[in-house]
Amino acid sequence: MEVEHLLEEIHAEVRACTACRLHQARKNAVPGEGPATAKILFIGEGPGFHEDQQGRPFVGAAGRFLDELLSSNGLSRSAVFITNLVKCRPPGNRDPQPDELEACTSRFLERQIQAINPKVIVTLGRFSMARYFPNAKISQIHGRAKTVNGRLIVPMFHPAAALHQPSLRQEVEKDFAKLPELVSRAEGMDPPETEAKDDPEQLSLF
Ligand code: URA
Repeated sequence: MEVEHLLEEIHAEVRACTACRLHQARKNAVPGEGPATAKILFIGEGPGFHEDQQGRPFVGAAGRFLDELLSSNGLSRSAVFITNLVKCRPPGNRDPQPDELEACTSRFLERQIQAINPKVIVTLGRFSMARYFPNAKISQIHGRAKTVNGRLIVPMFHPAAALHQPSLRQEVEKDFAKLPELVSRAEGMDPPETEAKDDPEQLSLF
């Protein structure tokens, strides 16, 4: 199946999903958006108020900052794929619970990663970082890429954290400035294997 159609199919499943309690209060599920051929995939935490209203990822204040960070590094939002660990808004923007994370990532995020097969995955915030760097501290490892299955995984602070803590703003800006170079580096690596899974258990060995 063509990658675009595969993604559309996954996203239709997201919109109909009732696998965890988060579907109960949602106005819209937020599957994610961007080209199926994107070289960079951003993984945030979960939709907030505005994302739930619109059914689109990162459209509130954090999203405007993300857009700025992209464009100031010559990257257009329309060239990258943006999604979240959980596709429905946790009520009151609480943290996603372990069973919600498991239900959503095993059904959808893993399949999105396999379909898009990006060269670089950027995790935004500590929850998505934990998927690839289980016991790490974001203050210690942000901006440092590691190679996993032929692609680079780069943990970064969440743009919303930088909005609330001005001291992080410079750190986020510095980390985003590395992205063009990281994409070039990743393009020179052996291609990711589409069959292999980004298994967090396996990744902790790297
Ligand atoms: N924060 C996130 O983690 N994701 C969004 O889509 C919006 C805000």
